[in-house]
Amino acid sequence: MLKTENLQVFYGLIHGLKGVDIEVNNSEIVTLIESNGAGKTSALSGILNMVKSSGTVTFLNEEVTHSQTHQIARKGLALVPEGRKVFTNLTIEENLKMVAYNNPVNFYYLCEKMYALFPRLKERRHQMAGTMSGGEQQMLRLHAP
Ligand SMILES: Nc1ncnc2c1ncn2[C@@H]1O[C@H](COP(=O)(O)OP(=O)(O)OP(=O)(O)O)[C@@H](O)[C@H]1O
Ligand SMILES: [Mg+2]
Repeated sequence: MLKTENLQVFYGLIHGLKGVDIEVNNSEIVTLIESNGAGKTSALSGILNMVKSSGTVTFLNEEVTHSQTHQIARKGLALVPEGRKVFTNLTIEENLKMVAYNNPVNFYYLCEKMYALFPRLKERRHQMAGTMSGGEQQMLRLHAP
């Protein structure tokens, strides 16, 4: 389903990730475990083309190495970044509206799906996202593209 070959990441002159091959098959859960600074975040950012990278990335039998991040996301490959990174001064529902903006997913369908997965978000849909707990904010980050 997802494959990287010799994926490398560069931050200017800094060689952040020195070549990694990852293969994820259908229905498989793959975990990257390494020490701090080893390159886990770089690998994920490289797959989504959010940083300068080399090597190849294939998703659903299609090479996405040179696709832009938003194009890759539209194909269904999403990254839930570390940190909460929600719009803290918007309500839960307004945050979901932002996800649906410029996105083929329908806002009402998205809300229905999210509230079924996380009933806590439904209870708090009119509350400012920044006033939810850390774990609750991460729930809000887990929206499907
Ligand atoms: N924005 C950046 N600018 C310069 N170097 C960076 C940047 N981000 C990461 N690096 C470097 O790239 C290497 C890999 O970092 P990365 O953040 O991918 O590690 P990680 O495995 O996610 O670590 P952690 O477990 O601490 O989250 C490190 O040497 C790091 O210092
Ligand atoms: Mg990291």
